[in-house]
Amino acid sequence: MRQAGRYMAEYRRLREKYGLLQMFKTPEIAAEVTLQPVKALDVDAAIIFADILLPLEGMGITIEFAEGEGPVIHNPVRTRKDAESLRAAQPEEDLGYVMESLALVSAELADEVALIGFAGAPFTLASYMIEGGSSRNYLLTKKIMYEDRETWDILMDKLSRTLTAYVLAQVRSGAQVIQIFDSWVGCLSPADYMEYVLPHVAGIFGALKARGIPSIHFGTGTADLLPLMRAAGGDIIGVDWRTFLDDAWARVGTAGAGIQGNLDPVILMAPWPLVKSRAKDILDRAASRPGHIFNLGHGILPGTPVDIVRSLAHFVHEYSSVQGK
Ligand code: CP3
Repeated sequence: MRQAGRYMAEYRRLREKYGLLQMFKTPEIAAEVTLQPVKALDVDAAIIFADILLPLEGMGITIEFAEGEGPVIHNPVRTRKDAESLRAAQPEEDLGYVMESLALVSAELADEVALIGFAGAPFTLASYMIEGGSSRNYLLTKKIMYEDRETWDILMDKLSRTLTAYVLAQVRSGAQVIQIFDSWVGCLSPADYMEYVLPHVAGIFGALKARGIPSIHFGTGTADLLPLMRAAGGDIIGVDWRTFLDDAWARVGTAGAGIQGNLDPVILMAPWPLVKSRAKDILDRAASRPGHIFNLGHGILPGTPVDIVRSLAHFVHEYSSVQGK
């Protein structure tokens, strides 16, 4: 999940001096930011400080993180010609800075802290490319999907190939687990997911599985998509807080599949006793079964008290170590 960010004073101090893209592209800064939450919170894994949109630059897309607006794309993909003119990004050349950041972090991390690499999933990235930024209804995206299947497949195929090469390069540079973020896939019906998304995302997970690389497949608003996401691939399926953890796990199927989640990040703004009781409920629902990664159901929000997050990590370690004993 996104665990670095503006809720941390150390991050804000750097962010006052540098633009976001500059931070991603300077390996020393990216490595420092990656390690900030690991040091401050005592969490079990670091996630490399990068963004799902970065590989799009290598494909010919211009991205900007506009203050207070979120990501903006200045040359959105709207026609077949737009899709055809996209390149497949070359990870070592176009995203060499991510590889360097991974190598730096990998050398710094203690053995018991895992290093997570990541990429956006084809659907979520296609939605940014087509809409030109964040979206509410994904109208333009769905319009291309439904009305221009060839353009859709060209775009999704190029994304899937770019992302596969990208995550494999991350593993060569020190990532031990790959998380694929299909953050906005919950806007699709199960039928549309099967038809337009599953075959493309399956290619990425197939390449990881063939090499024995552990993977996490994350989405939000996906209650009814969970079995299909599992079919598409991923050893661990990420879920948000809109489903009870044990119900979600049953939908994914407990045989061989793990689950990640699923505390509402907004709960972290509530008084500690409530945070603790919601965290305990999640751990009770996981019931010490192997394969649960405790996490938030989505990225941490600016304004979240760091003390509460630290107490949460501590509580999860403590309670899960005595659970079932
Ligand atoms: O925590 C970490 O160090 C991991 C790094 C990370 C970032 N983005 C850095 C970032 C990760 C894993 C991401 C993934 C990402 N980026 C996703 C998928 C995960 C999810 O949350 O659903 C998505 C959808 C994006 C696209 C994106 N980038 C959005 C919607 C935003 C928020 C814009 C805003 O104004 O808050 C970003 C910016 C971004 N990427 C931030 C960080 C830490 C916030 C940067 C800042 O405000 O300084």
